[in-house]
Amino acid sequence: MQQDVNLLRIPGPTPIPPSIQQAMNKPMIGHRGPETKELVQRIKPRLKRVFGTKEDVLMITASGTGGLETAAVNVAARGDEVLVLVSGAFGDRFAKICEAYQFKTHRLDTTWGEVVNVDEVKQFLEQNNKIKAVFMTYCETSTGILNPIDEISKVVREHSDALVIVDGVSCVGGVETKMDEWGVDIFITGSQKAMMLPPGLTFAAVSERAWKVIENNKQERFYFDLQAYRKNLDNDSTPFTPAVSLLFGLDQALTLLEEEGLEEVYERHALMKEMTRAAMKALQVPLLTADEYSSPTVTAVKPESFQADELRQTVKEQFNLSLAGGQQHLKGEVFRIGHMGYCSPADVLQIISLIEIGLKQLGENITLGQGVAAAQNVYLEKQR
Ligand SMILES: Cc1ncc(COP(=O)(O)O)c(C=O)c1O
Repeated sequence: MQQDVNLLRIPGPTPIPPSIQQAMNKPMIGHRGPETKELVQRIKPRLKRVFGTKEDVLMITASGTGGLETAAVNVAARGDEVLVLVSGAFGDRFAKICEAYQFKTHRLDTTWGEVVNVDEVKQFLEQNNKIKAVFMTYCETSTGILNPIDEISKVVREHSDALVIVDGVSCVGGVETKMDEWGVDIFITGSQKAMMLPPGLTFAAVSERAWKVIENNKQERFYFDLQAYRKNLDNDSTPFTPAVSLLFGLDQALTLLEEEGLEEVYERHALMKEMTRAAMKALQVPLLTADEYSSPTVTAVKPESFQADELRQTVKEQFNLSLAGGQQHLKGEVFRIGHMGYCSPADVLQIISLIEIGLKQLGENITLGQGVAAAQNVYLEKQR
């Protein structure tokens, strides 16, 4: 196979645009010097727009899980009651973090592939009045659904005093995010997905209401204490050495989002989702999720007539196309296509045509071009 061809179409990490790659190659600068201060000053107001908030967005050097842990340790302490809405592997991770800190953790589990049932959340909160925080996942990457954060948040606010904590790791920057309007108290995301950066940065936007809880929270914490990040961000700085090269990249990533326009970015993601789904339907390969719940950033496909991992293996070996497998009980049952960040409708057509070759080789009874044509038609429809 030709070297350097790498079709990375998993739901993160995602490919890096050349201008971001170039920005990250800049020579190192002192993290307490004026250059870093100017960099943070430039980044600060622009990040707020991506989260749909007037609040500051704190930047922490850690993977997305570090962001989830940050949210947990800042809003609750050992013995506090919390509710976790689990619709897949990443809701499950939120619950595990809460359990590790010995919070009294209640779970509301949803069948994987479906979204959180808002009425169940309401009922639970009516019967349990000690919940300090409700943790939820916006895009559940393991299944490719997008939870209705606005509706869930409304119910939580109407029926409790609990904080609304959202994991947006696999979609913020690619789908509409309205933290303030939706009443979210902490919105987390990570660098390596729709933000088009390498792994290593996590972000936390925090509401006024959450700060009051954080200031009084007795839970022991050090590196992840959000108060330290707030104090430093007020001076355009970070409490510890930041991932400086990632900040160079972030500056450029924000420029790319601004130049395209956030609304256009969201439309591009919606289009890529629709193209992908239309193609799978035309090829008669079943999707895991219903259209109305599906995420614009990742599509989970649940084949019945062939092994998901065999398809993944064949396209990987021939084209170095990486698709993701299933997680936990969906291991071997699904394959997942990431279409977020540095990804365009042209990339989607490429992915589908390579999948068609793989399907033929696995002996599937398809007509070559069927999936591609369906995706092309979706594209053309949108241009009218
Ligand atoms: C929704 C969601 N939350 C959290 C994480 C964890 O992020 P990380 O692997 O960067 O720790 C991921 C990673 O895939 C994710 O998709």
